[in-house]
Amino acid sequence: MNIQNETGIEIRPLTTLEQFERCVVLQLEVWGYSDGDLIPRRVFLVAQRIGGQVLGAFDGDTVIGFAMALPGYRNGHSYLHSHMLAVLPQYRNAGLGRSLKLAQREDALARGFDLMEWTFDPLEIKNAHLNVARLGAISRRYKTDFYGPSSSPLQGGLPTDRLYAEWWLRSPRVTGLLSGKPEPIQVVERITVPYTIYQWKQDSQTRLLAEQLQTANREAFESAFDRGLTVVGYERDTAGNGTFLLGAWNSEEQGAWS
Ligand SMILES: CC(C)(COP(=O)(O)OP(=O)(O)OC[C@H]1O[C@@H](n2cnc3c(N)ncnc32)[C@H](O)[C@@H]1OP(=O)(O)O)[C@@H](O)C(=O)NCCC(=O)NCCS
Repeated sequence: MNIQNETGIEIRPLTTLEQFERCVVLQLEVWGYSDGDLIPRRVFLVAQRIGGQVLGAFDGDTVIGFAMALPGYRNGHSYLHSHMLAVLPQYRNAGLGRSLKLAQREDALARGFDLMEWTFDPLEIKNAHLNVARLGAISRRYKTDFYGPSSSPLQGGLPTDRLYAEWWLRSPRVTGLLSGKPEPIQVVERITVPYTIYQWKQDSQTRLLAEQLQTANREAFESAFDRGLTVVGYERDTAGNGTFLLGAWNSEEQGAWS
């Protein structure tokens, strides 16, 4: 599979140890992880060999972004768990993150998968927008401090709370959204993340505010999910605040996997 992004960046599978080593370097540049949190090149090799995915975005010969997924199994079904998505800062906001996800979807569909999952930090407004509003993932599971402490400055020392994104690759929700005809949604509840969150996390004077918001939103998600609600939409206002839209998710897939 070779896909050319509108910016001329090509997306294709990574196969060599050199390329996997480059993914380790990209992790350092994108997340600033310490050694203990870095995924080593051999795990990329294993992912590629055992039916996962390692896709790279190439500017010429240089890998400037990648997506990595591992095969997963739950309740009698196989799926792909996408563990990492990274684009170098100078290449962001040109649609590359989305293109990498679409390339993952294409490969997954070609190999018979119906579902891709990944986790994301609900405080990251940009990621939530990409996952829910642009790709059509839904969310109905919340995990408190999923990874334990993180060495990435992006986490700002907060617990690594994560939402699971479920991307039902063939669902009307996803195919409708990707073809520019989104299905209507009925919003029952909203959970908001203010744009000031990034600043709050990075400054020791305001970190407490970020933690309080994380706790309040955690409780709101857990309560909503306990009542059977699902994240089915996401919107941003002109100031940059992000809001999760929760409602019913009555797809056939829900029954098949519960
Ligand atoms: C997440 C990431 C891969 C996205 O890559 P990207 O190439 O910038 O993504 P895209 O250009 O496809 O999409 C960016 C979207 O976010 C929006 N966006 C940009 N900055 C934003 C911000 N500060 N707040 C909210 N949305 C923002 C853009 O408008 C765009 O949406 P649009 O398509 O509706 O216009 C990249 O930001 C990254 O590497 N981040 C650090 C690592 C990470 O968090 N990875 C994901 C979890 S594993």
